[in-house]
Amino acid sequence: MAASPDHEWRDWLRALPKAELHLHIEGTLEPELMFELARRNGIALPYADVQAVRDAYRFTDLQSFLDVYYAGAGVLVTERDFYELAMAYLRRAQADGVVHAELMFDPQTHTARGVALETVFAGLARALREARGGLGISGYLLLSFLRHLSEDEAFATLEAALPLREAYGDLWIGIGLDSSERGNPPEKFARVYARCAALGFRLVAHAGEEGPPDYVRGALDTLKVARIDHGVRSSEDPALVQELVRRRVPLTVCPLSNLKLGVVRDLRDHNLAKLLRAGAIVTLNSDDPAYFGGYLLDNYIASAEALDLARDELVTLAANSLKASFLPHAEQAPLLDRLWAAAGRS
Ligand code: HPA
Ligand code: ZN
Repeated sequence: MAASPDHEWRDWLRALPKAELHLHIEGTLEPELMFELARRNGIALPYADVQAVRDAYRFTDLQSFLDVYYAGAGVLVTERDFYELAMAYLRRAQADGVVHAELMFDPQTHTARGVALETVFAGLARALREARGGLGISGYLLLSFLRHLSEDEAFATLEAALPLREAYGDLWIGIGLDSSERGNPPEKFARVYARCAALGFRLVAHAGEEGPPDYVRGALDTLKVARIDHGVRSSEDPALVQELVRRRVPLTVCPLSNLKLGVVRDLRDHNLAKLLRAGAIVTLNSDDPAYFGGYLLDNYIASAEALDLARDELVTLAANSLKASFLPHAEQAPLLDRLWAAAGRS
């Protein structure tokens, strides 16, 4: 039987090789796994069942989400927990056509509860290494500082993690900055980012999600990041958009996240198509898919439907994701060849 046009289109979209560049691994904790880990670790959850967890996922803004997200992460204790969390995500990502994933993780959320850094690294690394051979997905780790905490605490986290670079340096290649944006401008982390740059880490930071365009400028000019996570509020400052286009700084946009956290009221109002058409290097990502109602393919489909994205634009978004990744060019090239073939352009 011939596939319906709708199925044909989804299958075509799914088959495009894509990179996921803005993904918090703690944000992939599905309620079912949350319950299983809580039981295994003897942790009481403030929810009666899986449905009660899902019912709690009604957010009004970034902070209302972060409160639930940090509470959920409390069930992650052992190396096996972090391994199973990452493995579940990587399997799910593979089903969406993800061929490369750069995972952010929040070590401070775990060390604050007495979980050793080594436990977090070991579990995530085991999953990423297994996924490379077993699922055909390459992956990197981006250690992210919590911006509601102090720069001194970020420094302490960095120094504690550095001895682990010997064992995990093939995966831990970058640094990110997340959590509550408003009132925590990029400049607060200027010194620790300078140190990370000197250590050879690739740098990204959340900016312009809830914070003003000036935070995007701060991330670019003070933190000297290679990519901006979100960045959607940049469009309030046309000169900044021109600067992003001229400097070819990728934006890791997360449409369903923006919808769930009230950054946009309706996906039809999302500016990602305008930014793309203005020449910005827009990529699509899922941010915290267990909390925001969709993994990577869902973000592509929802955006395409809401914004009338043409097939060519969807191919450009996938190509942007591969080119904006931190993979060496020699590893990007064969993935781009696969993309052109899947898109029918070879
Ligand atoms: N913004 C800021 N911090 C976060 C996010 C986000 O979307 N997800 C997880 N931590
Ligand atoms: Zn994020």
